[in-house]
Amino acid sequence: MLCRYYHRWFGWAGDSDNLWAQSLLPILNPDEFAQDAESLKSMMADGRYADTYAELFGSPSGQTPETVLVNIAKALAAYQETLITGTTSFDRFRDALERSDMELAADYPPSAQRGLQIFLGKGRCAFCHTGPAFTNGEFHDAGVPYFVEPGRVDPGRHGGLQVLRESPFTLDGAFTDDPGKKGAWAVRNVRRTHTDFGTFRVPSLRGVSRTAPYMHDGSLPDLTAVVDHYNNIDLERLHADGEAILMPLGLTDAEVDDLVAFLNSLSDDQPAAD
Ligand code: HEC
Repeated sequence: MLCRYYHRWFGWAGDSDNLWAQSLLPILNPDEFAQDAESLKSMMADGRYADTYAELFGSPSGQTPETVLVNIAKALAAYQETLITGTTSFDRFRDALERSDMELAADYPPSAQRGLQIFLGKGRCAFCHTGPAFTNGEFHDAGVPYFVEPGRVDPGRHGGLQVLRESPFTLDGAFTDDPGKKGAWAVRNVRRTHTDFGTFRVPSLRGVSRTAPYMHDGSLPDLTAVVDHYNNIDLERLHADGEAILMPLGLTDAEVDDLVAFLNSLSDDQPAAD
């Protein structure tokens, strides 16, 4: 669920306030495509994308390199907006309950039902993973180590806000498609405080069984490891302003399995497992 309608911030550190700006980051990132706006402009003027580009956005020759870059990013965003996850076995359960169709609701594996109760109840997961995409859209410290290597930390949202505030590619900038800049209120109103340090965006959990490894640094190999992480959370590791909501959960092995079964039910077309 990348769609802009479900997210206010993009990237683990919230470097972007919109999907097209997020889409240009991997193009420019030296560790990814390592392109620059000038080379993209020549690529669009002459090459396999030239005709398509000209058809959509006109000839690049009179456009600044930044405009060409943004146009490409907007085309990428338009495609990504069509990538909406399908109905999951959890969704079918939810819909069945709403219609009081208990027969259909019984198709949802009992282990996932027990896992859902933990997710909403003593696991306290829904405090942050809430709403249609299972995220409150904000930034928290979930106890993942933020030392990238000894002496070097990943500042998370603290660094993301810096990038965001210096970016010409926000909804408050010159490239926005909305002349009224109605969507710019969020980026205009964010403030950076020391509590942003080491916080990361609460990720959506739709399709989560297919997106291992987990957490911003990919440090947890599977969903059992994620649940174990929360179950035995190291309070020392949460920074001084740590999330008071997180504490060791004391789940039994069977309860860990149930919570994992629930997380697995958030992907579409999963074979029912109990
Ligand atoms: C205080 C807010 C908060 C609570 C409570 C919370 N999470 Fe998270 N969750 C996060 C954040 C933030 C991340 C990303 C952390 C990171 O990358 O450093 C995350 C990451 C995850 C991921 C990894 C997703 C991915 O794509 O990498 C899973 C799965 C997950 N949480 C499940 C749970 C479960 C299950 C619970 C309850 C036991 C829970 N969360 C409770 C904030 C929270």
